[in-house]
Amino acid sequence: MKQNAPATVLITGASGAIGQALARIYAKPDVYLILQGRNPETLNALADTCKAQGADVTTRMLDLRDIPSLQSWLAEISVTHLPDLIIANAGININHGSKRQGEIWQDIEALLELNIKSTIALVNGVIPAMRKRGSGQIALISSLAGYYGLPVTPSYCASKAAIKAYGEAMRGWLAREGIQVNVVMPGYIKSEMCDAMPGPKPFLMMPDKAARIIASGLARNKARISFPFPLNFGTWLLAVLPAAWSLKIVRLLNYGG
Ligand SMILES: NC(=O)c1ccc[n+]([C@@H]2O[C@H](COP(=O)([O-])OP(=O)(O)OC[C@H]3O[C@@H](n4cnc5c(N)ncnc54)[C@H](OP(=O)(O)O)[C@@H]3O)[C@@H](O)[C@H]2O)c1
Repeated sequence: MKQNAPATVLITGASGAIGQALARIYAKPDVYLILQGRNPETLNALADTCKAQGADVTTRMLDLRDIPSLQSWLAEISVTHLPDLIIANAGININHGSKRQGEIWQDIEALLELNIKSTIALVNGVIPAMRKRGSGQIALISSLAGYYGLPVTPSYCASKAAIKAYGEAMRGWLAREGIQVNVVMPGYIKSEMCDAMPGPKPFLMMPDKAARIIASGLARNKARISFPFPLNFGTWLLAVLPAAWSLKIVRLLNYGG
């Protein structure tokens, strides 16, 4: 079913490649954009672009791992500008290192805090107001890496699998209350994070194209927005094949193990 165009849109990680592209898509007259990031220069430049496209824009510099600050910000906007659409996009990636030495605990902790804890805290913080209003949409940016654990990025894959499961569960819980939850599973999208990731990057896509696919899927309230084909099919298959076969395929394709 086609959704009404959202009038108030909150995007986390708006200073990143996908976040910026999403902001430019939603930046239109009569839209109020709330852009979160940590880099004021990038965020302010993006805000100028979005204003030039006709949107009202506010920015918020915040480390999302600071949960008390996140919660008090959400309490504030729940009263002043409760979003119609929230895109939980901020995330980081780490890998096991160029010599397969393994992930460092401090890095793992930082990743889990942002990718899982802050993302769930974000959703949890706005749900009461959305339920009271009886409407809202929440897009959770997972990844195709959430289907099957790649040996090169164990913690990242685990975090994206967690967000996929959380989003699916929340969608089921909240659908009857007029709140739509969508799980977004992109493949390789050109960005700083993607560039830093080891291994092959088949079907690499530009952020603007990815943002168009995401926005179109959200407008149709698709439960799962996974792309690009055939990478989405291939990664889904890894999750349903016997585990020993999947690991062999992953090794053959040069994703470690
Ligand atoms: N690129 C891909 O291939 C790909 C594929 C699948 C899924 N994804 C997911 O898509 C999302 C966006 O990724 P991207 O490729 O656009 O990466 P990116 O360009 O590196 O952007 C990451 C964003 O997250 C923000 N961020 C990082 N740490 C933060 C923190 N502690 N608090 C608040 N914000 C923080 C960054 O803000 P700063 O600028 O302040 O650091 C930036 O805005 C991520 O969730 C990622 O896992 C990406």
